[in-house]
Amino acid sequence: MTEVLDINVRKIKSSRLQDLNIDELPFGKYFTDHMLVADYADGEWQHVEIIPYQPLTIEPSNSALHYGQSIFEGIKAYRDHHGDAYIFRPYENFKRFNLSAQRMCMPEVPEEIFIEGMRKLIEIDKEWIPQKKDHALYIRPFMFATDGALGVKPSDTYKFLIILCPVGPFHAAPMKIAVEEKYTRAAPGGVGFSKNAGNYGGSMYPAMKAQKEGYDQVLWTDAFEHKWLQEVGMMNIGFIINGTFVTPMLEDTILKGVTRDSVLTILKDMGISTEERKINIDEIVEDYKKGQINEVFGMGTAAVISPVKELKYKDVVMKFDPSTFTIAAKVKQTLYEIRTGISADTHDWMLKV
Ligand SMILES: Cc1ncc(COP(=O)(O)O)c(C=O)c1O
Repeated sequence: MTEVLDINVRKIKSSRLQDLNIDELPFGKYFTDHMLVADYADGEWQHVEIIPYQPLTIEPSNSALHYGQSIFEGIKAYRDHHGDAYIFRPYENFKRFNLSAQRMCMPEVPEEIFIEGMRKLIEIDKEWIPQKKDHALYIRPFMFATDGALGVKPSDTYKFLIILCPVGPFHAAPMKIAVEEKYTRAAPGGVGFSKNAGNYGGSMYPAMKAQKEGYDQVLWTDAFEHKWLQEVGMMNIGFIINGTFVTPMLEDTILKGVTRDSVLTILKDMGISTEERKINIDEIVEDYKKGQINEVFGMGTAAVISPVKELKYKDVVMKFDPSTFTIAAKVKQTLYEIRTGISADTHDWMLKV
């Protein structure tokens, strides 16, 4: 049940929206006029406010900076042709956020702050939602520890915030991906399924090395053999093999992507067979050599559907022609139509602001 929450609102004197150039929107660079802030102390959430977007003050001994209790989510909101704002599947992110919180020994954030706070914030900054194809309002809820004390232990105090940024297409161009053979993002029993900041910090070095060799991202593999496929940077991965959609099954080493789940649902609606299972890179190479891999694409909130034009494993370079990816294109279009209200929202994915 959602309680009515008393959120204090302090609005900005004059909006910065007129300074925004919608044709120049690098991902995650421009933020809307307001943000939501809530504090956790004495065992409860308090002081929930929407205030002008502004810097935060923290202690140099802030425990999140030293010991990494920091989690986040990524969600998108859209405006339909009537100008009404909708958020795409925020309850899935809400559940995943609290799973991350549990794993990182952080307090759960109640629905009335996460969902209702988000709705209220977006309502206030609604005009910032770009109404342009492949554009959206990116929503970034996050929480971090705020105790000012050294020592490895869960903090007693936390801050939860939601910030918003208008965004254009993320990975507009088809991607070149290198299968990771040395470094590890997540191992069984670890924190791979959670969206904690450290997962991303640890992934930068291998990604940077791949980028130096001309690749956009790495495809993570298991920690033991570096053979079993996991996911890519900020995306889950899927293949169309002989007409069937195949994606790695969810394990504690993989983030449970909302886009992945939406793609599986749309494909089932389209009558396409789907498999969630373990995928070995040797199988992919063999299928590639037999000409059985029809499409490869990443799935994630930021990029939505990102076609892969090259996948490298050891000295095998597998090349694909994204212009022939009819299934990926259809799924992307279907998602776009649901999100912008062109098609019926038959799965109840869109939450009206
Ligand atoms: C590591 C990782 N995997 C997968 C995804 C895709 O998840 P979603 O579709 O919920 O954005 C993301 C992005 O959130 C991610 O950071």
